[in-house]
Amino acid sequence: MKRTLGVCYYPEHWPEAQWTEDAARMKALGLTWVRIGEFAWSRMEPVPGTYDWGWLDRAIAVLGAAGLQVALGTPTATPPRWMIDRHPDMLAVDAQGRVRGFGSRRHYDFSHRGYRGECAKIVGAMAERYGRNPHVAAWQTDNEYACHDTVLSYSDAARDAFRDWCAQRYQSPEALNRAWGNVFWSMDYAGFDDIGLPNLTVTEANPAHVMAFRRFASDEVVSFNKVQTDIIRRHSAAPIAHNYMGNITDFDHFGTGADLDIASWDSYPLGFLSDRLEMPAEHKQRFVRQGDPDFQAFHHDLYRAVGRGRWWIMEQQPGPVNWAPWNADPLPGMARLWAWEAFAHGAEAVCYFRWRQAPFAQEQMHAGLLRPDSAPAQAFDEAGVVARELAAMPDVGTARADVALVFDYASAWAWQTQPQGRDFSYFRLVFHFYRCLRRLGMNVDILPPDTGDLTAYKMVLAPGVATLSAPFLAALAAYKGAALIGPRTNSKTPEFATPLPLPPNLPGLDVVVARVESLPPDVPVPLAQGGQFLHWREKLEGGAAVVETTTDGWPALVRAGDIHYLAGWPDDATLDRIVSEAAQSVGIDPDPLPEGLRRRDTGTHRFWFNYNAVPVEWGGVTIPPAGVHWHEL
Ligand code: GAL
Repeated sequence: MKRTLGVCYYPEHWPEAQWTEDAARMKALGLTWVRIGEFAWSRMEPVPGTYDWGWLDRAIAVLGAAGLQVALGTPTATPPRWMIDRHPDMLAVDAQGRVRGFGSRRHYDFSHRGYRGECAKIVGAMAERYGRNPHVAAWQTDNEYACHDTVLSYSDAARDAFRDWCAQRYQSPEALNRAWGNVFWSMDYAGFDDIGLPNLTVTEANPAHVMAFRRFASDEVVSFNKVQTDIIRRHSAAPIAHNYMGNITDFDHFGTGADLDIASWDSYPLGFLSDRLEMPAEHKQRFVRQGDPDFQAFHHDLYRAVGRGRWWIMEQQPGPVNWAPWNADPLPGMARLWAWEAFAHGAEAVCYFRWRQAPFAQEQMHAGLLRPDSAPAQAFDEAGVVARELAAMPDVGTARADVALVFDYASAWAWQTQPQGRDFSYFRLVFHFYRCLRRLGMNVDILPPDTGDLTAYKMVLAPGVATLSAPFLAALAAYKGAALIGPRTNSKTPEFATPLPLPPNLPGLDVVVARVESLPPDVPVPLAQGGQFLHWREKLEGGAAVVETTTDGWPALVRAGDIHYLAGWPDDATLDRIVSEAAQSVGIDPDPLPEGLRRRDTGTHRFWFNYNAVPVEWGGVTIPPAGVHWHEL
């Protein structure tokens, strides 16, 4: 397959007279894709029931005539103002009970059935009109589900839908009371209509109630998305994508992924470093103009799994963004490096956000490939370089990995619901393990939690998975490679109770978690073999073989055959040692890399990425700052 570049474009923001020249410049730059449409509802349907498709027909025709392919977005993230008059109760409500207002975007409630109907109408009209348009070669549903904290809504619509969801799942109030343990604090319900949403309670709501609400809210996103995919497929054979985000776990992306053809995500490395990464200040300083060396790769691997192999970057940061606490200018070369890193992880397409910087409204400080005056911005030339390099290169082939890491959205909800230690975050834990694998030079595949076949992998890691699925446990029982499970893995039932017998209940492993403790970050638990646990440790009892102990005499790592259970959260160096030993036991040679240098193998090439602001010498090659180096395997 040929890898391609693209750009996000808003024809409705610019005079029509400018479109032809814009399209010609995109084509000359070497772009293939233009994503359009995703916020243009007020121009598609200016008054209820009256569509104006003329401008969009012409925009698609102009882009198509220039030889570009269109990825057409449905506009459902931005319902127009008149929609609120028609459905005053379609606005979401926050956990404090405040209605979220009109005047930006994503002002809708996933559970509002009237709004879903409106979405079905506009998507149906678009799909009918453009489903067979030769230039519309892909679709995008909505825009960034969950952005701006919009999955959880405490509205009447959400409450009513949640009651229905509970009735379906539990069948009787008695069964629900049993499942949630409502006898505790007299929380029993006599009927489903008694059930409220778990906000504004006096103290912590029942975690089983919260978890049920989180599962429900996630299901609402999945069914909202499916309304659109079902309609589009009736009219179009083009693949359908959604653009996901970085470090967002509020709904099960594997759930939406099952109804889509392509996963895509919006990669803003400098915004994420500043805004969404829990790392020490020195790390953020060091990578301030490059981004974290592992954050993008993690999401590339995650979304390759969500897309069952097919994934894109739908939005790639081109210069400073506008929304992080600080908005640095990327080091020259990064707009090229980020694109190549995505391709090395298997991306089919990388689209820069956006074509031209907007001189008006919320994002006027957000760079584009062009400045507001249409002169090229820094990333313009770098995109051109990538386009020429892609054209000169054979396909980089299919990714492969020996190592797998499980990622489970429900575990993120579980440990947000009852973290038990202030800094216990599932994303942080999994990303900690991922970074270790990358420091050791490994290629990683991310697996959904219901994976039932592990035979392709020499090593599998599953930290912090709240409930291991039946297929995964069966696969583990038959597994011949090294498995590193824990901490905290399999320590809850699906209804958020403590399992009996006590966790971890792993095949053949004679051990129980007898006690746990969380600790402030300045109170480490030293290990006898060197290194330490931080944040979290478990005290294990049982007959399993002890591999490592803490200096206060408890097992830190135990094993039965090749299944290892880890009883704490190791710091970087300790995790490197433990993972290296497990890897070596199955014939994987760790190859520790210098800080900020990362690599990725495809089926055909080995790629090197230098995230440092200084050159790095490695394997006889000097890789410049923000440099990319590759050779055939
Ligand atoms: C994304 C969003 C885009 C734009 C961009 C700015 O989250 O999908 O529409 O707002 O951020 O960085």
